[in-house]
Amino acid sequence: MQALVTGGGGYIGSILVPRLLQEGYKVKVLDRFFFGKETLASVSKNPNLTLIQGDTRWFDPKILRNVDVVMDLAALSNDPAGELDPQKTLDINYKGRARVAKLSKQVGVKRYILASSCSIYGFREGQLDEKSPINPLTTYAKANRLAEIAAKKLADDKITVTMLRFATVFGYSPRMRFDLAVNGMVLGFFKNRQIPIMRDGTQWRPFIHVKDVAEAYIKVIQSPKEKINGELFNVGSNDQNYQILPLAREVAHAIKIPFKKKWYGDPDTRSYKISFNKIRDTLGYKTKYTVEDGAKEIYENLKKGTLTDSLKTKTVEWYKHLLESKKTIDSIVIKNTVL
Ligand SMILES: NC(=O)c1ccc[n+]([C@@H]2O[C@H](COP(=O)([O-])OP(=O)(O)OC[C@H]3O[C@@H](n4cnc5c(N)ncnc54)[C@H](O)[C@@H]3O)[C@@H](O)[C@H]2O)c1
Repeated sequence: MQALVTGGGGYIGSILVPRLLQEGYKVKVLDRFFFGKETLASVSKNPNLTLIQGDTRWFDPKILRNVDVVMDLAALSNDPAGELDPQKTLDINYKGRARVAKLSKQVGVKRYILASSCSIYGFREGQLDEKSPINPLTTYAKANRLAEIAAKKLADDKITVTMLRFATVFGYSPRMRFDLAVNGMVLGFFKNRQIPIMRDGTQWRPFIHVKDVAEAYIKVIQSPKEKINGELFNVGSNDQNYQILPLAREVAHAIKIPFKKKWYGDPDTRSYKISFNKIRDTLGYKTKYTVEDGAKEIYENLKKGTLTDSLKTKTVEWYKHLLESKKTIDSIVIKNTVL
């Protein structure tokens, strides 16, 4: 069984790819490697891994030959990064992924899985499930919705298409992201003894550990196609919906520190509390790790010095830096290169 993971060098990818290899899959990674390919250093000598430095918008479809399943993660990966250049965000996050899905079907790939996001619900009261109306407020969220629509259209008896709407992820990864809420809270405390909280703290968000994201992929690829073809799943767990202020208290409790907060930003316009019943009831998926586990592991790594907050760990700042140093993200044009 061969998997192709786009964006496999990223925060989720660099946990998912070793997990797939461990499960016995052959893995090809297609990535621009905006954050470097060192994120996959732990598996770089694995003979079942092939790294291809290329772009989802113009890669050679030959890469898809003999691939059984495509996990499409490549994207400018959060709301603020998506606003740096909205057209580029639509080109990569929507058109790039629609291209990957379409070519996958043309080449004969049997399964395609899109990485979408619960941020698509934007601002909504109540507990939302996959049938709830969506409210995509940002270019990032709109591009996710367009990619979902393009992918779903392809689902038939030739290709099984599944769309996963992930909760906000936390936990340690070799491509660390401190722009994610839990991770940023731990870093804020570590550096300044205060937990940064986005105003006004009452907004709801669902959370999931990055290792549980990898397990969701394993669950989906090992599920029969009747259960997943053309289906959307929210991915997370009902008990990890938090309002941001209580979340900060939970983080403080996990790392055993007196709670001290520091407000930042304008009041958040996004708030969504999510039902994860569908993935639990249809696929038997359950998460294993808690916010407490994630906060502790990050804090320990920071204390030991095995984790630092370099510019690359802050997605928007890093993309801004790339834009400033190379004029545009696309001026770093790369032909597909097998590394
Ligand atoms: N981390 C989260 O909280 C979260 C939540 C919901 C959904 N997601 C989705 O999961 C996916 C992965 O997120 P992540 O947190 O790992 O982000 P990330 O920024 O760490 O990884 C994205 C990867 O995609 C690559 N990439 C970007 N544009 C590319 C292009 N045009 N061609 C090839 N490679 C390209 C980057 O080099 C990077 O390695 C994204 O689609 C994101 O929207 C993430």
